[in-house]
Amino acid sequence: MEHDKDGAKPEQSFQQNADGKQGNRERMNLDDVVWAPCPKDGYKTAKIKDIGATDITVKFSDGSPGVFGYDDIYPTEKDLKRTVDDNCALMYLNVANLLNNSKERYINDKFYTYVANILVAINPYKNIKGFYDAATIKAYKGKSLGTLPPHCFAIADKSYRDMKVFNQSQSVIVSGESGAGKTENTKFMINYLVHNYGSGQSSLDAKIIEANPLLEAFGNAKTVRNNNSSRFGKFIEVHFNEKHAVDGAQFSHYLLERSRIVSQNKNERNYHIFYRLCAGAPADVKGALKLQAPEAYHYLNQGDTRLFGSQLKDPMLNDKGDFVRTENAMKKIGMAKDKRMDVFKIVAAVLHLGNVEIIDGSNGGAEVTPKGIPAINAAAELLGMDATQLIESITTRATKIPGEATLVKKALIARNAIHARDALAKALYAKLFDYVCELINKSIPAGGSSFIGILDIAGFEYFENNSFEQFCINYCNEKLQQFFNKRTLKDEMELYKTEGLKTKGVEYIDNQDMIELIEKPRVGIIDVLDEEMKLPKPLDSHFAETLYNNHRKNGRFLSPRKSPVTKYKALTDSEAFILRHFAGAVCYNVNGFVDKNTDGLHDSLLQLCATAKHSILVKMFAADAKRKTGRGKLQLKSNGSTFRTNLNILMEKLNSTGSSFIRCIKPNEKMAPQEFNGASIMSQLHSAGIPAVLELMQAGYPSRTHFSDLYGMYKKHMPAKLSKLDPKLFTRALFQALGLNTNDFTYGVSKVFFKPGKFAAFDQMMNGDPEHLREMLKKLSSGSSKPDGDTTFTAYGWRSNSKRKSSIEELQQQQFRPTGEDGSSVVDKSSFWSSSVDPRISSLDQMSSFKRRRRFRKSKNGSENWKKNAGGKKKKNASENWKKKNEKERRKKSEKCGQKWKNNEKLRKQGKRRGTKMQKIQAQMEADMARTAAEETAKRQREEQERRDRELASRLQMEQDEDASQIGLSTAPTRQKNIAKNEKGQRYDLTKWNYAQLRDFINTSSDVEMIKSCREEFARRLQAYHKWKDQNKASGQSTGTQSEARMPDNVRAMAEQAVSQTGSSAPVTVNKKQRYFKVPFNPRQGGAKLGWWYAHFDGNYVKRQMELHPNKEPILLIRGRHDLEMCELSLEKTGLTGRKGAEIFPHIFDEMWERCGGKLITDWKPPPRRKQN
Ligand SMILES: Nc1ncnc2c1ncn2[C@@H]1O[C@H](COP(=O)(O)OP(=O)(O)O)[C@@H](O)[C@H]1O
Ligand SMILES: [Mg+2]
Repeated sequence: MEHDKDGAKPEQSFQQNADGKQGNRERMNLDDVVWAPCPKDGYKTAKIKDIGATDITVKFSDGSPGVFGYDDIYPTEKDLKRTVDDNCALMYLNVANLLNNSKERYINDKFYTYVANILVAINPYKNIKGFYDAATIKAYKGKSLGTLPPHCFAIADKSYRDMKVFNQSQSVIVSGESGAGKTENTKFMINYLVHNYGSGQSSLDAKIIEANPLLEAFGNAKTVRNNNSSRFGKFIEVHFNEKHAVDGAQFSHYLLERSRIVSQNKNERNYHIFYRLCAGAPADVKGALKLQAPEAYHYLNQGDTRLFGSQLKDPMLNDKGDFVRTENAMKKIGMAKDKRMDVFKIVAAVLHLGNVEIIDGSNGGAEVTPKGIPAINAAAELLGMDATQLIESITTRATKIPGEATLVKKALIARNAIHARDALAKALYAKLFDYVCELINKSIPAGGSSFIGILDIAGFEYFENNSFEQFCINYCNEKLQQFFNKRTLKDEMELYKTEGLKTKGVEYIDNQDMIELIEKPRVGIIDVLDEEMKLPKPLDSHFAETLYNNHRKNGRFLSPRKSPVTKYKALTDSEAFILRHFAGAVCYNVNGFVDKNTDGLHDSLLQLCATAKHSILVKMFAADAKRKTGRGKLQLKSNGSTFRTNLNILMEKLNSTGSSFIRCIKPNEKMAPQEFNGASIMSQLHSAGIPAVLELMQAGYPSRTHFSDLYGMYKKHMPAKLSKLDPKLFTRALFQALGLNTNDFTYGVSKVFFKPGKFAAFDQMMNGDPEHLREMLKKLSSGSSKPDGDTTFTAYGWRSNSKRKSSIEELQQQQFRPTGEDGSSVVDKSSFWSSSVDPRISSLDQMSSFKRRRRFRKSKNGSENWKKNAGGKKKKNASENWKKKNEKERRKKSEKCGQKWKNNEKLRKQGKRRGTKMQKIQAQMEADMARTAAEETAKRQREEQERRDRELASRLQMEQDEDASQIGLSTAPTRQKNIAKNEKGQRYDLTKWNYAQLRDFINTSSDVEMIKSCREEFARRLQAYHKWKDQNKASGQSTGTQSEARMPDNVRAMAEQAVSQTGSSAPVTVNKKQRYFKVPFNPRQGGAKLGWWYAHFDGNYVKRQMELHPNKEPILLIRGRHDLEMCELSLEKTGLTGRKGAEIFPHIFDEMWERCGGKLITDWKPPPRRKQN
């Protein structure tokens, strides 16, 4: 039945949902199940129990209550056990569902999941049969992302195909905390590339693969977080030739952890090679190196001396067996026996050096104890040095005496001599590590110009004590996070803009200010530290004070006193500083910063190394010896600035490549399989920037391809008729022929964009049977585009489209017609210009020339008439009279014209003045709005940063097994109070009233002031609640049906306008008037028929509300019963009072209300008022 303006009965029931996805979840209410934060699991399901102005009260399944802010609560998926490969395919894209999806997958051994093109890898801590074997390697070859289950092989293959197609090198950034699985994934990907796209020369392929275990032997160690923790970062480039086959590789390394060489925590170990040598070296080698068991060495026995494979268990590690593997790897990269022995000599010498005991001697200077003498002899022998010289170089320092030309040797105190000994050990080992990397690089050709680079570098770190190493790692992660934001968010948003796609942008914390705080010349932390080194007496405390003075006003820099962690609060500004990183605040203890920044050797030690009788040692120190200062001072070469330079080179490299990201996650601290620690995983996902990606992808299009690329790909299959089409039209024709669902993609200016997860099926189809494709294209050109066998298409996951256009001609006709939902209204601008604007310009041209010609003809006729009349006096008089008359008229006309012109001019000036005034007002308004928006954004970012700081502190606290509540780390939002006074002057905190109490009071009380306060509290809660609901709509949904919107869009828009004009904080005047309104609305965007929205305002708020839909039952709502569905705005805010013709007489409202069955509803009585306490 047609809906008429008076609201005749519509046909369909309102309860029917427009699309299958939309169910009751959209209409969440009290008692609905949601995700609520949980300190242990991240999120837990709970039922909504009350809705506050700023928060929601929930009840968990164990009966415990919880109060959370709107931003902390998320809708759940319908089926919590259903999992998806790509989180973008979730119905409600939110972090809680992502966490649940990941968990369900993880416990079922599906530990890889996508978020669009980003791979999230949760460490399984167990070997899953066949997961990385040869058959799997083969299976992923050439497959698009998404066609097979998520896997690091799919990322590797995508990089390979992108490198080929775009002729651009690629990088894969593998990040995550220590133990998250970065190195394992890196190795799997290298293996994959070499196996599938290898050179075919087995020695080259083996060298590339074997380089990793070799690096691990020297650069990995057991830590509390990972038995095989890489204590350095690496960027491995696998190079390819013109035929896209592997033809070389290059390894770059960063930030080897030096402090570990001389000391370790109780439960950690030194680098693997030390233990492997002790456990696995043949007796003759051990004899030559004078090696004993690990317990015998000071540099090992401060930590855990147990061996893997005997006392320590790890399926991947075995010290004895791994020695053989290390040696084999050394052989593979071409190290002969003597070279290998030279390397082992340095390793053993480091151990012996650690046993060189030093004490303060009787003459005040440092001395090597008798117990230490065999150790120093052994070290000197292995290094090819003279033992006496070595002792002297360790225990004395050459200094310049003022006024004397030569340097004088001065005895050091024991503490400084030990420091010099340790510095030598660290320098030896670090140089050896550089040397091994260099050998690897030399043994493998550099190869062709295109490469796939895999970056495996420590993720963001925070410990109880954070030092220079964590500072460098976190600095690096700030840069990588910026790169990630740029690649995944900023560039993406810009692309949507230039391609004309309308999508919602996302906010993310821009960390440029933090990067500047660290690396800015002169004032940045790195340069301040370098300056400190140059002072005659560099001090960590002075460095910290300078930092504090330079940056105390910087929001990213904090004094330790401001930390929420009690332990840090006790530190002074000369002992520590806090940096508020993107992932949270970290407190750095400055103790050792100056030292670690130099790690230099005394000049005499350096000379000793450079002149030693040891083939490798001499090479290792040659360059440093050349740079020596000759003043006996520490070398002024800073580790911080070297790292800054290397990092910037790396960033340049990354910027020049296409990129993919793997975010590795550590599921638990115990390194155990099947244990999923939700809270810690959530925090890691936040640090990895995943929520922002999710938000962007919810609205965006993660896959895209150029029209011209598509065209190029299928041109060869195309019949002549089709190949004449331009690429964009061809794409449209192709998609229509395939019957693609228009919700799955949209057309940009130069590319077609796909919704999350939709590209893979298309790509697979396109890479499918060429014969079939040719057939299909033929049909398209002949006009019958309906694919024969829908089965073929459903096999690929595409729906057949019965309303598909039947011919190219039809498509051509509709080419530039806006077509609404699929976004195809975004037209190629140049085409739009020529097809629709040009004709208008030419018709304007025609019009003006026609007028000109007519004017010309008129004037010609006039003069000829005049000529005809000429002759004779009569004619002369007549002519003079005519002239006079004419002259008079002309003068009159010109005066009139002049006056008119003057008036016009006056008006114009007035208008201009008014216009300028309006423009000024407008500009002012725009500036105000922009300022408010910027302030809002800054506020949100501040709050987010605070949340992250709190989260990190609480995680740290939890890891230390302390009660987070002790340090005041509650993440619950602070409730805004709404205190109201009743007639008797009693005060009530309305924020503590539950929903039913408020409703009952409104319905039963006569205390006008209290009712007003209750309503305002009610309205505030509703506003906050509906805002939350809007934010949490199911993905892929339109802006919502009328059933969810409590007022029509146009009323809402009007309301927004009214709010912006009156200001949201405008005082609400007490208004007891009953007013009635009626406005049309468009129930379905673009639909032809209008509906009517009726509202009865009792004072400032809606009491009754009615929606008349063209094809549904009317919706009648009343206050106190349907509050959650109703318009929550105050009358002022709706802007209805200013709308012409909107206000109606009460009887009109009441008549309609009754006709629609309103009486039945009004008969309902509120429950009796409950007593307040
Ligand atoms: N994909 C995987 N399959 C099986 N075990 C894994 C996997 N990834 C990591 N692991 C286990 O976790 C440990 C730590 O992984 P690793 O890659 O060294 O972490 P990271 O490099 O991030 O510090 C490995 O030694 C291994 O035991
Ligand atoms: Mg690692």
